This record gives sequence, structure tokens and C-alpha cells, in this order.
Amino acid sequence: MDRLSERIRKLPRYLFAEIDKKVKAARQKGVDVISLGIGDPDSPTPDFIVKRMQEEVARAVNHNYPPDEGLAEFREAVAAYYRRRHGVDLDPQREVVPLIGSKEGIAHIAFCFTDPGDVNLVPDPGYPVYSIGTLFAGGMPQLMPLLRENAFLPNLDNIPVESARLAKLMFLNYPNNPTGAVASRQFFAEAVDFARQYNLIICHDAAYSEIAFDDYRPISFLEVEGGKDVAIEFGSLSKTFNMTGWRLGYAVGNSMAVEALYRFKTNIDSGVFKAIQYAGVEALTNPRMEPFVSGLRDLYQRRRDIAVQALQEAGWQIEPPRGTFYLWAPVPDGYTSAGFVGYILEQTGVVLTPGRGFGKYGEGYFRIALTVGEERLQEAMERIKNAVRFS
Ligand code: MLT
Repeated sequence: MDRLSERIRKLPRYLFAEIDKKVKAARQKGVDVISLGIGDPDSPTPDFIVKRMQEEVARAVNHNYPPDEGLAEFREAVAAYYRRRHGVDLDPQREVVPLIGSKEGIAHIAFCFTDPGDVNLVPDPGYPVYSIGTLFAGGMPQLMPLLRENAFLPNLDNIPVESARLAKLMFLNYPNNPTGAVASRQFFAEAVDFARQYNLIICHDAAYSEIAFDDYRPISFLEVEGGKDVAIEFGSLSKTFNMTGWRLGYAVGNSMAVEALYRFKTNIDSGVFKAIQYAGVEALTNPRMEPFVSGLRDLYQRRRDIAVQALQEAGWQIEPPRGTFYLWAPVPDGYTSAGFVGYILEQTGVVLTPGRGFGKYGEGYFRIALTVGEERLQEAMERIKNAVRFS
């Protein structure tokens, strides 16, 4: 295929598409696979959201193009949620834009700010889309290592000054995928100072903002003094409402950044189906949201505790994460992350994600997604325990 663009030829296969292939291949061989790979919630979208979708999909008025800037009702619902949950005021006209899932906006934001030769600061390990979007836009990712000894926060003092000067964007993501780490208000305040010093934009991926445990409630980057001056925050309905397949998210914050993303998007996509946006309004404004999300947190917390306890019994020294539905654990001595994950799949039929898939600083780790029911999770953890013996 010599006609493929340089861009596509250099593009690695998407991590989760590759894992999906392995799952299918194992299932075809008759293996009883338990997939703790991709973070795709196993529970259904709540009925009050599905019902609203059913109503809206039947209304002919919703069948044509949505407004370019998104439905006013959806933008207002996002603003109302930010006010209620974070005490942040957003202008629904200028500071909110709907996305076809937050992944779409995260991939496209680099095109709005990054010229060839520019640098974007990207956490490693991290969601692969931060680097891919940067590379597609012609920029260079400068990795910010997330190390256990620094609680999986980037050490801003260690970012080379030259890279910081060339940087247009800094991607952050807390609660963090894949490590489960959380960030303090103090850290976000330091990131605001850094952004001001180097005149860059913070892109905060807040996809897991509602998935947190032990009474911990993540804050929005926009809650921090000066946050809205320097940041655009990406939100998603996927994980909060079990809506990964619906493709609905939003970007909020700095009006210049939101406007740039809106301008870019109107040139390449035609927005989110109106019925889906109305379903999003229902999700964010229905009084049943709070009890639903609280139940979801309890469900993942129980699963987290089952998996952490099993790993500890097998000899792992890990602490329960305070956010996301992922566990991030070191591979036993003598394995690479891919080697360990391959061994577990072969021996037990359990699918894990190799840390290396999230970047070079993910080497030496694997990730467990807590997206199967308690019984299957118990079973998966038993299988792992039986396959791994620490000496
Ligand atoms: C993951 O497993 O890391 C996520 O499901 C990826 C995503 O949200 O796109």
C-alpha cells in the first residue's frame, strides 16, 4: 500500500483495537475469556436516559442536522451540572461545546493550536490519543513521566525549559487513566502557574470525574483560581452513565479554546444527533442522576476491593486507587508488561492491558479494568492468583 500517507504508515495500531482482536481470537479457540482489558462499562445506560432517547428519536424535528454549536438545551445542561457539582459558572454560548465523545475533542484540540515543530506536553503512561492527536497535527509529544514515586503526577520542575517554551498544550487527566491516581487542588494550582509562565493551554481530560471512592470527590480544573484562563476541560457521559456507545461528551472552559475547537469541528463534522443530545440533557439534569452515580461508585468500589484484596493475597503490594475503575500494578520480576499479559491470557483466559500500551513509562505495569460483574471478577482474580506466585 505505497499510496498510504506517511501519517497513516507511521500510525501504530490502536491499543484497544489490538486487544479486541486477541479476545476474539481466544474466544474462537473456545477459551472462556474474561476481559479486564478495555474500560467499557458492563452495566446498561440508566432507564430514564434510554426513555428520553426513545421519545426524542421518534420526533421528526430531531432528524435533521443539529445546530452547529450544539443544542442550547445540552449546553445549558452542561453549564448547570458544572454550577451544581463544581460551583463553576460557564457561559453556555461561549464556554461549552458538545463533542462526539470526549475522545474526538481530545484528538482534535491539537489541530487548533499545534503547528509543525511545536511541542505538546503529554503524560506517560497516558491515554494514547494525546500523543496521536499531537503527531497528526505535526507536533512533537514531550513526555511527562508519571512515576509511582511522584504519586503518578508529572513533576513540572523536570520539564525541560526548552520544551516548555515550545509547548502549546499540556495534557492532564485526573482521576487518571491508567494509574487510578488523583490530583490535589494544589497540583492544579501549580499547573495554572506553569501554563501562565509558558503561555500554554492545559487540556484536562476529566472523563472519570464521577468515578471516585471512599468519599473522595474529584475537583474540576476550572475550580482552581485562574483555571478557566488557561484550561479547556473535556468531559464525557461515557463512564458516568454507561454510555460509551452513544458518543457524547463536551469541552468547557477557556472561551478562546472552546471557540477554536468549535470552529475546527464545524468544518469536519456535523455534530451529535439531536436525540442523543436530549438524552444527555436528561442524564445531566434528571434528579435521578445523583442516586444513580452514587450506586455506580459503590459498584466499582466493591469490585476494586475484591481485585485489590486478591492481588494483595497473591503477594502484590498495591494500594486501592481513589479514582477511575482501573487498577495499575507492577508485573512480577522477570516479565515485560506485554510478556506478563500474554502469559496471563494464555494460562488463564483473562485479558489485561499491558502498561507499555500507554507509553514507555508504562513498561513494567499492567492494568485491570473493573468492568465485569463481581462473580466473574472473583473468578478472574482466582485464575490470576493461581497462575502467579511471588517467591
Ligand atoms: C480505556 O480502556 O482506556 C478506555 O476505555 C478508552 C476510552 O475511553 O476510549
